[in-house]
Amino acid sequence: MPWRRFRKKVERSIDVSKSIEESLEDAAEGEEQEDLTELAELDDATIAEAATGELDDGRAPSDLGARLRDALETQEQRGGLPSERPRARRTSRSHEGPSEEDPRAANAARNPEFGVDLSVEAARGLLLKNPVMTASGTFGQGVEYAELIDVSRLGAIVNKGTTPNARPGNPQYRIAETPSGILNSIGLENPGAVEVARKYGKAWAELGVPVIVNVAGYSVDDYVYVVHEMTGTPGVVAYELNVSCPNVKGGMLFGCDPSLAADVTRAVKAETDLPVIVKLTPNAPDVVAVARACEEAGADALTAINTVLGMRIDTRRRRPMLGTGSGGLSGPAIRPIAVHITYQVAQAVSIPVIGAGGVTSAEDALEFLMAGASSVQVGTATFADPLAPLRVIEGLAAYVREHALGSIREVIGTALPRAPE
Ligand SMILES: Cc1cc2nc3c(=O)[nH]c(=O)nc-3n(C[C@H](O)[C@H](O)[C@H](O)COP(=O)(O)O)c2cc1C
Repeated sequence: MPWRRFRKKVERSIDVSKSIEESLEDAAEGEEQEDLTELAELDDATIAEAATGELDDGRAPSDLGARLRDALETQEQRGGLPSERPRARRTSRSHEGPSEEDPRAANAARNPEFGVDLSVEAARGLLLKNPVMTASGTFGQGVEYAELIDVSRLGAIVNKGTTPNARPGNPQYRIAETPSGILNSIGLENPGAVEVARKYGKAWAELGVPVIVNVAGYSVDDYVYVVHEMTGTPGVVAYELNVSCPNVKGGMLFGCDPSLAADVTRAVKAETDLPVIVKLTPNAPDVVAVARACEEAGADALTAINTVLGMRIDTRRRRPMLGTGSGGLSGPAIRPIAVHITYQVAQAVSIPVIGAGGVTSAEDALEFLMAGASSVQVGTATFADPLAPLRVIEGLAAYVREHALGSIREVIGTALPRAPE
């Protein structure tokens, strides 16, 4: 898997003929060179490519590159890449179903999920053509992936966490590999709400897939401001509130306290007519109490769950691996926790629940649906296989066919305790 690996720290000899300032500058240059080396390991780019951002054409493709190329070729055989479609025709924003003139209709008919009823209500007032979304922070702004996969096949995409102002993110290191998952402390790196709306709105409208904006902040006003600035942005169909952020007043995470979470939900609901989804943190002492409070405050759905707090120690340096010390654990390692919380929350509320945490296959998605989620998000799995969300859709369609179901909705909540007759 192409996760970031940690290198042995290189000890540098000191040139006594140089001043301390000169030595420090040399060391900093060395560090920069090391950073580039590490990026090269992460993305499989050469150092020159990492430094310049330009692709070295003479280089043999990486494993991941080869897999992507194969995947793209398969898609091409199925009906063409998204980028090959006439641009003028890509302005349709309809999610109800393609018209006869829409080239997407012809392509959609070749997809394995074609003809299977996968539609779900992901949030009150938000119907999706299938229950598979990408998770925030793991799919960029969606547009980056549009040249790799047919994003219009997804139920929805959730963009990267958006804050009122631009944020550079946390200090390095920000990713560490763990058994069956990763720890991250990216720290909400984003260009800020105004820039996100300006830069991506038009592209989102042309993607042919609904966009859910993930909102983050450090005060109630921050969340309201982001939603205010994003209002009217083409392609946006709902907001997902990342309440795993500390409140500046008191420092407690919004999502750890039922009344703080309710305050944010209520304020954002008053600002927008679009559905508002609250993303639950598993780090709350009582997640079910937070879920209930958000429902009462008007939330239209709940996402279960955000990442689980975790830490790794670099035993050579005798220090935490991540620059922030602790980080958020994601991937298959957290799936049983996420399924458990989905199962508890689905019984406590009557609004839709979106399952997230370690979904890598249709089988995983089915666990969440049976536990009461009406849709799922695929996150970390996309880093190892950008086609993972599409494979989940295909697998769910195959399941509906194999079991001769009328729709995927027949699966939702089937593992929940039955109400007494
Ligand atoms: C690198 C990375 C960045 C993330 N950024 C965000 C974010 O900006 N906002 C948010 O609500 N969740 C964020 N998440 C959490 C994911 O959206 C998701 O809830 C979590 O990773 C569990 O799903 P997964 O195991 O499928 O990745 C991030 C996760 C990762 C791995």
